[in-house]
Amino acid sequence: MAKSTLSFVCQNCGAAYNRWQGKCDACGEWNTLAEEDTTGATSMPASIRSKRKSRVFALESLSGKSVDAPRLPTGMAELDRVTGGGFVRGSVLLVGGDPGIGKSTLLTQATSVLARAGHRAVYISGEEAIAQVRLRAERLGLANAPVQLAAETSVEDIIATLSEGTVPRLVVIDSIQTMWTDTVESAPGTVTQVRASAQALIRFAKRSGAAVILVGHVTKDGQIAGPRVVEHMVDAVLSFEGEGSQQFRILRSVKNRFGPTDEIGVFEMTGLGLREVTNPSELFLSERDLGSPGTAVFAGIEGTRPVLVELQALVAPTSLGTPRRAVVGWDSSRLSMVLAVLEAHCGVKLSGYDVYFNVAGGLRIQEPAADLAAAAALVSSLANAPLPTDAVYFGEISLSGAVRPVAQTSARLKEAAKLGFGRAILPESARGDVGGDAGLSLNTVGGLTSLVAEIAARGTPRKGARQSTEEDDDGDSRDTSHGKNAAPPRFRRQER
Ligand code: TYD
Ligand code: MG
Repeated sequence: MAKSTLSFVCQNCGAAYNRWQGKCDACGEWNTLAEEDTTGATSMPASIRSKRKSRVFALESLSGKSVDAPRLPTGMAELDRVTGGGFVRGSVLLVGGDPGIGKSTLLTQATSVLARAGHRAVYISGEEAIAQVRLRAERLGLANAPVQLAAETSVEDIIATLSEGTVPRLVVIDSIQTMWTDTVESAPGTVTQVRASAQALIRFAKRSGAAVILVGHVTKDGQIAGPRVVEHMVDAVLSFEGEGSQQFRILRSVKNRFGPTDEIGVFEMTGLGLREVTNPSELFLSERDLGSPGTAVFAGIEGTRPVLVELQALVAPTSLGTPRRAVVGWDSSRLSMVLAVLEAHCGVKLSGYDVYFNVAGGLRIQEPAADLAAAAALVSSLANAPLPTDAVYFGEISLSGAVRPVAQTSARLKEAAKLGFGRAILPESARGDVGGDAGLSLNTVGGLTSLVAEIAARGTPRKGARQSTEEDDDGDSRDTSHGKNAAPPRFRRQER
């Protein structure tokens, strides 16, 4: 007989300990250990386990015929882009995100689209009552979609129900933290339960060929088991992100066994649900603060798509011994690197200043190509010198202060020209990548020093600023309309 084993399981990462301790050694989180009975943690009752005989199976070779993963496109272009062309049959996808970000809304919309196209689509809500889900569907104008709805939390009951009749094409489980299986003893929401429930649902997906979507809340305090323990079990992990105060939502693929992991899907939360944003650049630039210092437009690439976004920097004299460095939407070590290069090679003294850095619209940038735009925004803020409103920036900065070329120069330039920008500030060596007429004037920079000097020469010092730039006291020197293409480009919001 199996010994009853009580152990302390980290609710963040799933590591198990014999005794309680304040900090999880595996993931470093505090106060995440909870006592759990892990006797039946294999999600198979001991009685069955002991009776089960081993079975010999055939081993296969790597080559051989296998059909292409059959996909189920939803027709929601932004969602399909991130999944890699639609949900794969028999696969399990985890959609993670903060509570209230719009996961239920997105998946209600996706199931409705598929149900309307004649597929059997099932939505199991473990969090909300049927009436609440109906209310949402009504608000979205999807109340008449033939989605099969249930408010259930028992994994065994759910699988039994789904196994009846035609195999469902899409099953949404909202959320995995509310599910429980009676094969393990722990309370719903604990790591052991979440893991066992996910395992059962994954087995169901593989066996039946249904595409299963698990919703998971990301919580920091460890009260509910984070979906991290499920991440390695599923085929794909999508993360739904956004700033609570902003209406943009970004769906990002974190892991995908069947598709790309660098694509993003952009949505806007409206009163009528999530609206797809087909041209994210227009949205990210729609509320631009034209002509104020500390902002630069970065011509980036997200997956296969060029995306223009505004980078904002605020460099302000500090009153602290150690100045603050706060970053939203970018890698903080990348910012430190750019600041160090500015100090070491361009004579920009930043040790007496707090630096705040933000990527507009809730986008998170991972490309090193953002270095040049970030540096321009930082220097612009420090020197109180607005950058030309019709310029985009991109290029990687090396530790020596050189500006290095980045991939997909022409795609970036094309997008900038399309949105009405007049000039691009880019690495010298990228000029060769521009085939023919770029549609906008190109200012190449070889090193960061020349760019800094050029920006600083336009600035007016702020009161109390300790930075010494080429200054004149004439307030008119803030004029940004230099160059013949200085008319601000079009940043109109998309018509709804
Ligand atoms: P929801 O999908 O319930 O979030 P999650 O499942 O990730 O917890 O969405 C919650 C928020 O979205 C809620 O604050 C209200 C807002 N919302 C809209 O703005 N418009 C809508 O049409 C809907 C359905 C929700
Ligand atoms: Mg929800």
